[in-house]
Amino acid sequence: MLPYGRQTIDDDDIAAVVDALRAPMLTGGPRVDQFEAALATATGSTHALACASGTAALHLAYAALGIGPGDEIITTPITFSATAAAAYYVGATVRIADVDPRTGNLDPGSIEALITPRTRAIVPVHLAGMPVELDAILAIARAHGLRVIEDACHALGATSGGHPIGSDAHGTDAVVYSFHPVKHVTTGEGGAVVVRTAEHAARVRRLRGHGIERLPQIAPWYYEVRELGWNYRLDDLACALGTSQLGKLDRFVARRRELAARYRQALASDDGIACPEDAPDRTSSYHLFAVAIDFERFATTRAQVMTALADLGVGTQVHYIPLLDHPLHAARCPAELARARPGAAHYYARTLSLPMFPAMTDADVAHVVASLRTVLHGGSR
Ligand SMILES: Cc1ncc(COP(=O)(O)O)c(C=O)c1O
Repeated sequence: MLPYGRQTIDDDDIAAVVDALRAPMLTGGPRVDQFEAALATATGSTHALACASGTAALHLAYAALGIGPGDEIITTPITFSATAAAAYYVGATVRIADVDPRTGNLDPGSIEALITPRTRAIVPVHLAGMPVELDAILAIARAHGLRVIEDACHALGATSGGHPIGSDAHGTDAVVYSFHPVKHVTTGEGGAVVVRTAEHAARVRRLRGHGIERLPQIAPWYYEVRELGWNYRLDDLACALGTSQLGKLDRFVARRRELAARYRQALASDDGIACPEDAPDRTSSYHLFAVAIDFERFATTRAQVMTALADLGVGTQVHYIPLLDHPLHAARCPAELARARPGAAHYYARTLSLPMFPAMTDADVAHVVASLRTVLHGGSR
């Protein structure tokens, strides 16, 4: 079975973790610093901080930027639950905008109507690895004095305006990554936050380690718990794997782009199936390859297509069920239920993520495309 995504682990990744296992410090050691330095380089940022997961990274970003009870953030309906859930962790309320029906990315035109005196941040998600329109979102944020926190869990290795997502050049306040196995590089579970100032970096460090501030100038053993934090540290084993994986990021992303080009070429003449496209000033790192299929036109349903593809050995997934379709988010955001989101409805009705991971072969792409045609056309092509 070809899954929709999968990690690529080589012998040198395994050797790096074995080395870490033999080292004196399994956590809090030098491999954490090495991973953070490598991530800062890969993202063009100064302050990159590793943590336990992408969800922990979102929580740390919201908390470190001072978002709390009574505050509101604005995000997209087409995202993983954690983008919004982490805002609930800090006591904030979530306002849900709409998306571009073609890309599934936050539609800048849907943001301003949601801004209130309590709004603190806009949280775009670079869906599937395709960067959002950062300039338009930043212009709105600046006009209203809001933070911008990028959920870049899908977008390590993507670029916007010639700079990597995460780069200090973009002028956003924080950028959040996940290193879950389906992502571009993995640490098992794991994540990271990029922030722009030394103060925010110090706050993230403190919050990921119980709110502890070490004060060796008072006594060698002395520390104070300054505020309520969590144990969101990433250990040296995970960081060893992450550094080894980051060394292959360019190769992994290049292969994802090649696979995307192959899919696009193979599906170019298929009416009713639309492939994602790069924008002139942005390149996707293709965490996912989400096509839009007009299921009605093929007189079928997505469920039938997914089941039939699975029978042919092709795994697919849907990214994402809109936030407000989940009971948790509907209950947490009752005021949001009244508004229609035509962009999200259109995107959700059609989207299907096809297999996309660097170890896929060209023959795998051909098999996926042939299987999709068989399923959609009942074997008539
Ligand atoms: C857009 C987005 N945000 C946040 C997360 C949370 O990351 P993690 O699973 O590492 O906690 C994910 C994970 O899939 C994600 O896709």
